[in-house]
Amino acid sequence: MSEPLILGIESSCDETGVGIVRGTELLANEVASSVDEHVRFGGVVPEIASRAHLEAIRPTVARAVRQANIDLTELDAIAVTAGPGLMGALVVGLSAAKALAYALDKPLYGVNHLIGHVGVDMVEHGALPKPSMALLVSGGHTNILRVGDIASDVEEIGTTIDDAAGEAYDKVARLLGLPYPGGPVIDQLAAEGDPTAIAFPRGLTARHDLDKHRFDFSFSGLKTAVARWVELRHRDGKDIPLADVAASFQEAVADVLTAKAIDACAAYGIDSLLLGGGVAANSRLRSLLAVRCEVAGITLRRPRPGLCTDNGAMIAVVGAELVKADVPPSSLDISADSGMPVSQISM
Ligand code: KG4
Ligand code: ZN
Repeated sequence: MSEPLILGIESSCDETGVGIVRGTELLANEVASSVDEHVRFGGVVPEIASRAHLEAIRPTVARAVRQANIDLTELDAIAVTAGPGLMGALVVGLSAAKALAYALDKPLYGVNHLIGHVGVDMVEHGALPKPSMALLVSGGHTNILRVGDIASDVEEIGTTIDDAAGEAYDKVARLLGLPYPGGPVIDQLAAEGDPTAIAFPRGLTARHDLDKHRFDFSFSGLKTAVARWVELRHRDGKDIPLADVAASFQEAVADVLTAKAIDACAAYGIDSLLLGGGVAANSRLRSLLAVRCEVAGITLRRPRPGLCTDNGAMIAVVGAELVKADVPPSSLDISADSGMPVSQISM
């Protein structure tokens, strides 16, 4: 069989994404974001996100089809994010995907959003080495995963016991008075700061934590430490060196993420590491991981920043892998699962 032609829809949060791939070849990746509508609330408002998806979904599908220069009837399947994410947002994309699958009489694949983040690098660098370790860092999730096969075998090795890495960025940005989403803003600010200025804590790295939580993360103590540091400066009437705080916070996050991911590779004897999720766009995480992987003899797969944040191509390419692996399609009556577990690749 020639490589499958797949349209993928993503609507789990504030981006309406539609991607089209032929196998791992990227033909279109159109994204409509409602982020500007959420800024004044300091975070994503689910009802606003759902309404924005509803308005954007049809034009975004049309743009992707035009960009890929295909006809919908040529598609081999429709893939869509089935979870995890905001329920009201997920159902918009899922309903659109079901309508397309039904009208075109094509198979439907309900795909796990997180597996999309892990697999998106395929559209840039081709098939994944088997097995790979994956470091998944998004707004809602932080995981280390053993990926035996992206279509059939993903195992959770570690997770966060409180906040996700992206959530920590967003919360720290908020307490520094910076806009939402915090990740890109802190990333930029940090470029002018000194990462060694303030010694912020590295969660779950003390010896007694490693026994139980060797591959797990904790970012809520770090967030509290930043808040406390800022509060004390205020109390003493000193101004806040924003760039130094941003750089020191970012260093603490990148240090723990990279150290634990590399330790997991060593512990499982895996020499390929995949980076994915919105926080994978972070410049310091990318550079520190590259250096540490090189030292450890690990091949790093790092999608370009534009593919790290939510998009439809990541869902389409996982859909293509499912088709190639002969995984049975989803039923047309599947429901979105806002808490879909990361080891469940499709529905
Ligand atoms: O994967 P994603 O687009 O959405 C979820 O599935 O959650 O991730 C969004 C998260 C936000 O928390 C955002 O602040 C963070 O990714 N992010 C970044 C950067 N760009 C986006 N964090 C750090 N540095 C960045 N450059
Ligand atoms: Zn995401």
